[in-house]
Amino acid sequence: MDQRPVGVFDSGVGGLTAVRELRKLLPSENIIYFGDSSRVPYGGRSAEILLKYARQDVHFLRSFDIKAILVACGTVSTTCLPVLRQENDLPILGVVEPACRRAAAVTKKRRVGLIATAASVRSGAYERCIAAIDPAVEVIAKACPLFVPLVENGRYKLGDVVIETVAREYLEPLRQTGIDTLILGCTHYPLLTEVIGRVMGSGVTLINAGAEAARALQETLQSGDMLAAEQVGDATLYASDQPSDFGVMASRFLQEELKKPVLPVDIDRY
Ligand code: DGL
Repeated sequence: MDQRPVGVFDSGVGGLTAVRELRKLLPSENIIYFGDSSRVPYGGRSAEILLKYARQDVHFLRSFDIKAILVACGTVSTTCLPVLRQENDLPILGVVEPACRRAAAVTKKRRVGLIATAASVRSGAYERCIAAIDPAVEVIAKACPLFVPLVENGRYKLGDVVIETVAREYLEPLRQTGIDTLILGCTHYPLLTEVIGRVMGSGVTLINAGAEAARALQETLQSGDMLAAEQVGDATLYASDQPSDFGVMASRFLQEELKKPVLPVDIDRY
């Protein structure tokens, strides 16, 4: 048993979709979440800047006595994970490998789609990871940069003409490639499950990368005998800018009311 908290970080509120899954799977765990709201979005940035930000995010989380880190951010997972793992002596999990393992197991046609930020698609991380699992599986990737700002502005529900138009524009060409599995490789996309599902049709299985990563973390904690003892786990949220606005959006991503205020962090100190 290990009562230390788990650290989770993202460029902003989006990573709370993974925290939601984590809390369902591991309700006894205490979670420290950092959202880098002063520098969001990460999705269009260069690999060098992303590594600088990710190191600071990890440094902040490690100022607590944490037992593991979940990199909920798709963009950091695709661009920085090997370096972060090399530099830190605790388990660090990202979203790429768990999502690829699931996609490779699910696809029958061996054609998997990936939607994510521009930086994630540019990295080629999903193609490399799936090739290592099953070289016969083809990955067809598409960056969807308008999804994040639309979701953050509340335009994510079925029936919203703006998000439905953008979704059709991004996804229709992907649907026509004949994929039967689609990885949602960005924190915000689980909120678009219904909209995306409507365009892709019922023959395409959607993989929630954050949920797969939460399951992988559960396995890691179980196999390392690092699970917390049975208790009601708590989540403490930190943000690097406008913590009260962050809190309002956070409850939408977590789909629950926050029990305590979001705390401010000066991330430049880390
Ligand atoms: N959290 C980012 C990701 O999952 C999306 C938002 C951003 O671009 O910062 O890739």
